[in-house]
Amino acid sequence: MTTDDAGLARFGVSIPQDLLADFDELIRQKGYGSRSEALRDLIRHSLVESASLQDEGKRQAVGAVALVYDHASREIADRLTDLAHDHLALVISSMHAHLSHSVCMEVLLLKGPGHAIRTFADQLISTRGVTHGKLVITSLVGPDAR
Ligand code: NI
Repeated sequence: MTTDDAGLARFGVSIPQDLLADFDELIRQKGYGSRSEALRDLIRHSLVESASLQDEGKRQAVGAVALVYDHASREIADRLTDLAHDHLALVISSMHAHLSHSVCMEVLLLKGPGHAIRTFADQLISTRGVTHGKLVITSLVGPDAR
């Protein structure tokens, strides 16, 4: 990484060609002037989203994590199953679908403290081999929020 006089840091990014092509198309559709500007916006968005969710704190929440992964990287199914077994108290249910010869989708329903759900979901989504992952989470309010 290098930093110039204006305080701008430059770094190299390794990214599959087709993913970059899709990103460039998105940049074009949204009217960004450059990849750098689009990437800065994405990073800011992630930081804001993360910060606004920190007050979820210890309140009870429910979440659904959807994971799409490449079944061909063999160890990933075992890794995801191990993670679920390590978080028995959080996992209500899970569902698996075989999308194609090599692609699988898994959805886990979670219930527990908001921060615990978020941490576990981050762990699942960042597992090597997961090509797409998303958490939908909402806090429970009222008499059920214990
Ligand atoms: Ni499968």
